[in-house]
Amino acid sequence: MFLKLFKRCWISPVQAQTKLRQNGFVGPATSFPLGNFSDIKKLNIALVMAEKRKSSTIINHDIHSIALPHFALWQQQYGKVFVYWLGIEPFVYVADPEFLSVMSKGVLAKSWGKPNVLKKDREPMFGNGLVMVEGDDWTRHRHMITPAFPPLNLKAYHLAAFWISRKPKELGKEIDSLLLSIINERKRSLVEGDDHHDLLGSLLKAEKGEFTASEIVDECKTFFFAGVETTALALTWTFMLLAIHPEWQDTLRDEIRQVIGDSEIEYKKLAGLKKMSWVMNEVLRLYPSAPNAQRQARRDIEVNGRVIPNGTNIWIDVVAMHHDVELWGDDVNEFKPERFDGDLHGGCKNKMGFMPFGFGGRMCIGRNMGFMEYKIPFSLVLSRFEISFSPRLSPFNKACVFP
Ligand code: HEM
Repeated sequence: MFLKLFKRCWISPVQAQTKLRQNGFVGPATSFPLGNFSDIKKLNIALVMAEKRKSSTIINHDIHSIALPHFALWQQQYGKVFVYWLGIEPFVYVADPEFLSVMSKGVLAKSWGKPNVLKKDREPMFGNGLVMVEGDDWTRHRHMITPAFPPLNLKAYHLAAFWISRKPKELGKEIDSLLLSIINERKRSLVEGDDHHDLLGSLLKAEKGEFTASEIVDECKTFFFAGVETTALALTWTFMLLAIHPEWQDTLRDEIRQVIGDSEIEYKKLAGLKKMSWVMNEVLRLYPSAPNAQRQARRDIEVNGRVIPNGTNIWIDVVAMHHDVELWGDDVNEFKPERFDGDLHGGCKNKMGFMPFGFGGRMCIGRNMGFMEYKIPFSLVLSRFEISFSPRLSPFNKACVFP
């Protein structure tokens, strides 16, 4: 037992560090057993103090050094790819789309892991749903769930909002049993021929006996936690940005009038709201709801002759890439939705430099639904209200980037 613990906590990390160094991956000095935790904490506290001393009300979209001061500092010192440690776990930090592109080509989506060290915290929210599942199970889940997400053909999914305000751990069992009762009720009504055209209905029809009840529970939790906060945040940042840019409010109001008119919003018409899509993309560029993507190597991975050892975690800093002047040019921190006119990547010099929905085969399965959930409330609000600005703003990072 003691030997096992010694190997896990001391020998394996030392071996990992040696291998990473031999392959040219270096980074800030680390200490046992916290790794770089205390540096991260200190840098964040220093930043909060500095922000408090400032009295400026000027809005600055250059948020990387504000939301993630430790990464901004380490990037200056070690470049766009380096190693840092969370406790005894090594993380290769990546903010270089070229490196990411080569790394991603060399590994199948099902062969990536998700960092073991983060799994315990995420268990109550995602269970073993699509966000966390790995290997052949991921292929099976993704394959079965994909038909439930046809482009722009989904109606809302109903889950209780009270979840948001509760602590994840104490909620786990409560959510599971609530969902199980909803699922059983739905299964009964499906047998009686009562068809529901929503996400759960599609999932149950796709089931064909291959998903267990607990797998469906986990997928429902996953859709809720992966889909609600991300879209809600995109809308929140949008309202802030449009308050600063009333000319875009006018542009979008005109577009809504032309595409939707005075009638009720039809799903089919949403694709016609093109300028609204540019705005959503630009909002997700400046304030990505998912500020990072994570992977864990399940075997040695070679990238341009350097080996990322099996077991290494990989932390892709999306905020950094979306604010990189070398990728976007001098106007990188300006709100310019027109950069997406006719260009899905907004003119970014490297396609992997714009990734609000992740990358590779594990890219967000709900992105079309996200666009729909964004466009409907946005159109309703904008066609009825003018949005104006409250000048108190200080973005912070806590799993997502919050206003
Ligand atoms: C603005 C809205 C959204 C944003 C910005 C967003 C972003 C993301 C990102 C960054 C990932 C990780 C991809 C990766 O690791 O490469 C992801 C995965 C995922 N998202 Fe979304 N998402 C949004 C909406 C939704 C919605 C509406 C749903 C479902 C109802 C959803 C369900 C999922 C699922 C299930 C995964 C895991 C996919 C897999 O690993 O195979 N997302 N999303």
